[in-house]
Amino acid sequence: MKNVLCIYYSQSGQLTEIVKNFAKPFENSTDYSVTYANIEPLHDFGFPWKGYDFFDAFPESVNKIPCEIKPLNIQNEDYDLIIFAYSVWYMSPTIPSNSFLLSEQAKRIFKNKPVITLLGVRNMWVVAQEYVKERILELGGILVGNIVLRDKAENLTGIVTISYFVFTGKKDRFLGFFPKPGISEQDITGVKLFGEIVKTNFNNNSLEKLQDELVKAKAVKVKPYLCTVERMAFKRVFKKWANFMLKKGGAGDPARRTRVKMFIFYFPVAILLIAPIEYIFFIIFAPFRINTIKKEIKYYSGIKLNSNI
Ligand SMILES: Cc1cc2nc3c(=O)[nH]c(=O)nc-3n(C[C@H](O)[C@H](O)[C@H](O)COP(=O)(O)O)c2cc1C
Repeated sequence: MKNVLCIYYSQSGQLTEIVKNFAKPFENSTDYSVTYANIEPLHDFGFPWKGYDFFDAFPESVNKIPCEIKPLNIQNEDYDLIIFAYSVWYMSPTIPSNSFLLSEQAKRIFKNKPVITLLGVRNMWVVAQEYVKERILELGGILVGNIVLRDKAENLTGIVTISYFVFTGKKDRFLGFFPKPGISEQDITGVKLFGEIVKTNFNNNSLEKLQDELVKAKAVKVKPYLCTVERMAFKRVFKKWANFMLKKGGAGDPARRTRVKMFIFYFPVAILLIAPIEYIFFIIFAPFRINTIKKEIKYYSGIKLNSNI
């Protein structure tokens, strides 16, 4: 009997559904026992989000400042395969997920164990995944696979619909005509195919081939334009704003209210003006960067860590 541990944190239940569907092939086999471990913050983030709180979570997300979490409610800490399922906040793993990665318990659970990362996101995840790759390495874990489920709406449409989703908690069509927010039902149920691929490779002791098979099955799709925008925005914009807010105080500190509110005005302008301009530049220069773009797609579809990329 092999033991699989699925660790996750989900606010709306979307990621919970993804993890449970992914693990079905393991659940349906008598050779496996599956344990689900939900990361629980001591003081949870409210869902649906209130406007100010949504932006107040920005500096701690970006600068990877943990919150207090309860130890995972599990019988033992020795598993054969770890599924680390996480969502992304501001191009970083959610604060509760990151808090777990920084915990002593994570060191004990991950040490020398194969790890699969399973993401449920809107569409910007590569910067977060680079950070998670580093943490897994530091914890002594072995990243063997990565699966990314994302919202397939066009970027600006997705921003409108995810905002509707996180501020109301509703997953229906905003104003009756926008596409449904978040990850499609079809993708959420279809994730069990990726669970099947992981199980087969785990059974056959061929985890070194796993990521190539997952990529072939379209478990990860890298969008080069989004990668470029993401990396640029994180380094040049997000880090600067996060440090600017943190100079006035930590999470929930009223002293930083003015700076958080300035960011609330800046954020939509950046999305509506800067992102489309970046897109035009990306398209113009793409023919001259074709080899770099191909290299980036290959790298971000994979599981290796290379800080020179
Ligand atoms: C504060 C906040 C910031 C987010 N930032 C991103 C982001 O940078 N990139 C992304 O792809 N999705 C982002 N999302 C969407 C989440 O990754 C996730 O898909 C959504 O919140 C549903 O997750 P859940 O299962 O925890 O409810 C953000 C969501 C929230 C609440």
